[in-house]
Amino acid sequence: MKKKEIITTIYEYEAADKLKDADLLLINKAKEACNNSYSPYSHFSVGAAVLLENGEIISASNQENAAYPSGLCAERVAMFYANSKYPDVAVKSIAIASANKDGFIEKPVPPCGACRQVLMETEQRFKKNIKVILAGNNKVFEISSVEQLLPLSFDSRFLK
Ligand code: THU
Repeated sequence: MKKKEIITTIYEYEAADKLKDADLLLINKAKEACNNSYSPYSHFSVGAAVLLENGEIISASNQENAAYPSGLCAERVAMFYANSKYPDVAVKSIAIASANKDGFIEKPVPPCGACRQVLMETEQRFKKNIKVILAGNNKVFEISSVEQLLPLSFDSRFLK
């Protein structure tokens, strides 16, 4: 028997720490996108901003539906739009921010499992790590690839 361990590295920034300008811009775009959330059922707004290799930033928010499962998370709205508009352009990074009725959430809120799976597909499709920035209001987590967020994943390699 062998014991195997998988390590995920998270870089944690406090509000006073200096983030790179490009990351701060992406965080602001994700926060702005929260304002466009359609979330009358959960009252939980999520904004995601995706930076592409060509410099383009795509931002999106969660979109809910009276038939609950028909809604979609912000990350998937952003990622699917980015990949459908720019099918040949890799994704460099994604910033995610969330808010409830009291304002932006203090702690970094991680993406759900289904969104991680979709982010993983894009990371593998372009063979380029996607930096994931989880923007809490007073703390930011940075993870350097989706693979670290979704270890032991099911992916296209098993279909070959
Ligand atoms: N939500 C996201 O947009 N992203 C996630 O990764 C987790 C959850 C949305 C879905 C739903 O509209 C609301 O947050 C509450 O679950």
